[in-house]
Amino acid sequence: MAKKFLVINGPNLNLLGTRETEIYGSQTLSEIESSTNNSLSTLGFGAVETVWFQSNIEGEIVEKIHTALNENYDCLVINPAAYSHTSVAILDALKMLKIPVIEVHMSNTHLRDAYRQTKLTAKSSTIIMEGLGSKAYLFGILSQLIN
Ligand code: DQA
Repeated sequence: MAKKFLVINGPNLNLLGTRETEIYGSQTLSEIESSTNNSLSTLGFGAVETVWFQSNIEGEIVEKIHTALNENYDCLVINPAAYSHTSVAILDALKMLKIPVIEVHMSNTHLRDAYRQTKLTAKSSTIIMEGLGSKAYLFGILSQLIN
């Protein structure tokens, strides 16, 4: 049976490709989705299914996390973006999950602004991938496929 990953992206990540390209690179979110899925299908780790979701709205992200309580996902990958630094609501939603949570930040936030050093959501993350650019999603998923 395919391993199933829910990949959630938070605010402003719909504008990847044009947004602060010096930090986040020039790939759009849908290009990152395609290249992640292409790599997964060629790397030979067996059947993998990914479901990608993006929202700029905190409540929609919370509700999407809730779907992972009832649907058969093996893992949640989430880039909460700016909500990582502010959202108790997303933290609380993540806390309810029984599956691994991989928090992704494309940039290395440790090298950035002081207000990016607080990561509320990371308190309920199993793994944190930072500074890998667009490959952070792929490496996050691979962490669950490599024995
Ligand atoms: C980000 C880092 C956050 O600080 C920022 O607000 C983002 C993107 C990253 O992927 O590096 O929107 O999560």
